[in-house]
Amino acid sequence: MINPWNSEQSYDYKRLMTEFGITKFNFDLEGAPAVFKRGIVFGHRDFQRIYDYMNKGRKFAVLTGLMPSGKMHLGHKMVIDQVVYYQKFNSDITIAVADIESYSARGIDYDRAKKIAMEEYISSYYALGLDPDRASVYFQSERTAVKDFPYRFGKHINFSEMKAIYGFGLETNMGHMLSPLIQVGDILHVQNREYSGPVPTLVPVGIDQDPHLRLTRGIAHSCRFTNVIRTKDGRIGIFVKKDDNVEKILNKCRVVLERNGFKKLGMMLKYKALYIDDAGDDDIENIDNMIMENVEKRLNPDAMFLPSSTYHRFISGLDGGKMSSSKPETAIFLSDNEKEIRKKISRAKTGGATSVEEHKRNGGNPDVCSVFEMNFYYNDDDKAVNNLYASCRKGDILCGECKRNTSDFIVNMVKDIQEKKKSAEPERFLK
Ligand code: TRP
Ligand code: SF4
Repeated sequence: MINPWNSEQSYDYKRLMTEFGITKFNFDLEGAPAVFKRGIVFGHRDFQRIYDYMNKGRKFAVLTGLMPSGKMHLGHKMVIDQVVYYQKFNSDITIAVADIESYSARGIDYDRAKKIAMEEYISSYYALGLDPDRASVYFQSERTAVKDFPYRFGKHINFSEMKAIYGFGLETNMGHMLSPLIQVGDILHVQNREYSGPVPTLVPVGIDQDPHLRLTRGIAHSCRFTNVIRTKDGRIGIFVKKDDNVEKILNKCRVVLERNGFKKLGMMLKYKALYIDDAGDDDIENIDNMIMENVEKRLNPDAMFLPSSTYHRFISGLDGGKMSSSKPETAIFLSDNEKEIRKKISRAKTGGATSVEEHKRNGGNPDVCSVFEMNFYYNDDDKAVNNLYASCRKGDILCGECKRNTSDFIVNMVKDIQEKKKSAEPERFLK
């Protein structure tokens, strides 16, 4: 079980992927930053749909969120690097400030959450390249559409499902019990008519948030009238999940499919099904999109695309453990000054050998080195990163020099962010 509220958890990414059906992220994204190129974004659900929309210039939504507690550190930068990249496409970008969640999980009141969010996070997002004309920010506590979700869609989820996903028990308090449904509201409300309307929605997050995505996808799925699947007897078909208007819905589906060149269609009202015998597995997703766009959107007021998601790895802390705001020596904060950064990096855990002689002879191990990791996560220059890896392995570079170079790089990066932050107008995101 993944516990999204426990930041001390460590993750076996491979095992989680098989256990929860997360697919390997293997997309070639042109001009993408380091986070996409190096397996840092390692997994996804339904990213193919977003990829198609990106390449066709069709509109999609991107939604992610932040917990306004503590200070922003380098580990928080990864998700924004991704969001900034999606600005190049026809995307509606929304950032949720999880002030309801930080109140129920950490006891931070709304006023303080607002201050932290604006000064620490949103200003930094601006500095990292998030464009106020292309992205908007809201607070959970202030958005009715989000807060309505537990009431609007609560009927689709029962206690045993919440228990299976989160391990909730009878002792779990109601604030905690409700917070995942608020997050479902964050993710799905952008498909409300008064926001982007029903469009494919991407949620880029750390793997710890996957339980919320499973919950959200389940709820979005329950809201759909139709389901496109290959049945046990091997036929692909559209199945209506409700009992009224079955024929009307299937007839509309038939028209859409015919218009798109499918010919071997067979309706079986007994099974509330429309079989498509000239469709293959590769068509399922496409058919589902077609039905969503042309049938569900018109007939079903609650029709929503199941959200797609991507998962990134977490960067290690400078001590080789977790990078955490509550342990300042493990993290580089975006507010750290040069001296603090250099000091932290000089004390960081490396993969260097025990003595200089041995390091020169046998080389170091960049795979377990937090200094290498900072280069790997943040330096977009592939050649420089590959060279560092090789020189470390060969023992051509010593840890002292390597730490100095890395400090120079990180100091520059952070100074640049701090400089840009000065001219940030975070209020411009609140529209
Ligand atoms: N729960 C997330 C966190 O702890 C923050 C969050 C709130 C979020 N709503 C969201 C993330 C919606 C992604 C999508 O960091
Ligand atoms: Fe890490 Fe650099 Fe030392 Fe290699 S040389 S172990 S990358 S600090």
